[in-house]
Amino acid sequence: VAGDQNQSVMSPRTAARRVECARAVGYDIRLTTGSVSLIGQQLADAVGERRALIVTTPTVNAVVTQPIVSAASQQLRRQLPVLIVAGGEERKTHDSVEAIADAALLSDLDRTAVLVGIGGGVCLDLVTMAASSIRRGLSHIRVPTTLVGLVDAGVGIKGALNFRGRKSYIGCYCPPELVLLNQAFLATLPDRHFRAGLAEIVKMAIIADAELFALLEREPLFTTEHFALRRGQSDTIVWRSVACLLDELESNLFEDLPGERLADFGHTFSPVIESASAFSVLHGEAVAVDIALSTELAAILGILSCDTRDRIRAVLRHLSLPLSSPFLTLPRCLESLDAARRHRRCKLNLIVPAAIGTGFCLVEGTEISDALLRGALAVLAQDLVVR
Ligand SMILES: NC(=O)c1ccc[n+]([C@@H]2O[C@H](COP(=O)([O-])OP(=O)(O)OC[C@H]3O[C@@H](n4cnc5c(N)ncnc54)[C@H](O)[C@@H]3O)[C@@H](O)[C@H]2O)c1
Ligand SMILES: [Zn+2]
Repeated sequence: VAGDQNQSVMSPRTAARRVECARAVGYDIRLTTGSVSLIGQQLADAVGERRALIVTTPTVNAVVTQPIVSAASQQLRRQLPVLIVAGGEERKTHDSVEAIADAALLSDLDRTAVLVGIGGGVCLDLVTMAASSIRRGLSHIRVPTTLVGLVDAGVGIKGALNFRGRKSYIGCYCPPELVLLNQAFLATLPDRHFRAGLAEIVKMAIIADAELFALLEREPLFTTEHFALRRGQSDTIVWRSVACLLDELESNLFEDLPGERLADFGHTFSPVIESASAFSVLHGEAVAVDIALSTELAAILGILSCDTRDRIRAVLRHLSLPLSSPFLTLPRCLESLDAARRHRRCKLNLIVPAAIGTGFCLVEGTEISDALLRGALAVLAQDLVVR
């Protein structure tokens, strides 16, 4: 028999065998415009007969989770258990994953069970981490309740924890089975967090979607209230941004293929701003400053026209996003470029805009001199003074 033949060719001292298995990934993202109770029904349909544990944070529980869970529980004719974990970057740690595991144990979740994350990016990162490891992998559903969650943290496949002061140092790739998007949840979101989400949309518009950029220029989207009033347009904005991001991510979901990643735009100088400010600057605010700096560099290098540079600056101002930060100094810019190279397989791969809707990858060999950076920072610092 075949097994015996394998035995016979095996040398007495060494043996080797390669294992390969390609795992297909597929998940659904649905945007609905209905009420919160409709999301509850969608959730109930998705959970079905399975055991489930809802994970949320205190603020979100009061304003979003309770109506969703009561609609879902009513449809399922059983009460879905809810675990409330503390929110905030400082709680994006192993302790919170353990709390989810404790609750999973109490709720007797088996391998067919499903975790449901209802919250902002922090909550969703935690639930994704928990889903990747509890019982070697549970299914999970995400219901993002912040704009960052709707257009970014909720729709990819990554989960993360902060570790020893390093943001998202521990993480996983773990696709959800379903993501339910509904901007009705944003009604109670503080405007500052709302604007931070707009920065991620601006990012996608600049590198991939000129029409989305034009919408951002035209629409009065200054607060969640304006966003809600312009519902048709704002749904289009959210969906176009999500679609652009997924187009970018889909061919390299696990980020293991070499090459440029356009979605890295705005994410080279932003981490140092966040950490230097001890996270008092929100991620989206730091992304906006990074966008402004990368845009300025592209203009100085002659890759981007000055008119287009001015349009980008104008849209950031229009959305009340910052263009500069006292935390972004020349040494920190240089530190960021080094860190980016280390992260990007020793390649610079700095994404800058070449036109509205078109990203350009600055590769190794492009000189980003101290003088160039100093010049760009000085121009942007003036904006801080003017405003
Ligand atoms: N995994 C990924 O791909 C990915 C992508 C982007 C960001 N992230 C992570 O996401 C996090 C940032 O996400 P975020 O901006 O959503 O922050 P967050 O989760 O901290 O939420 C921001 C604040 O809004 C509150 N909140 C959430 N929903 C609300 C609502 N509907 N009404 C009122 N208040 C509400 C929260 O309690 C919190 O105080 C970071 O930790 C970042 O690393 C992950
Ligand atoms: Zn981001």
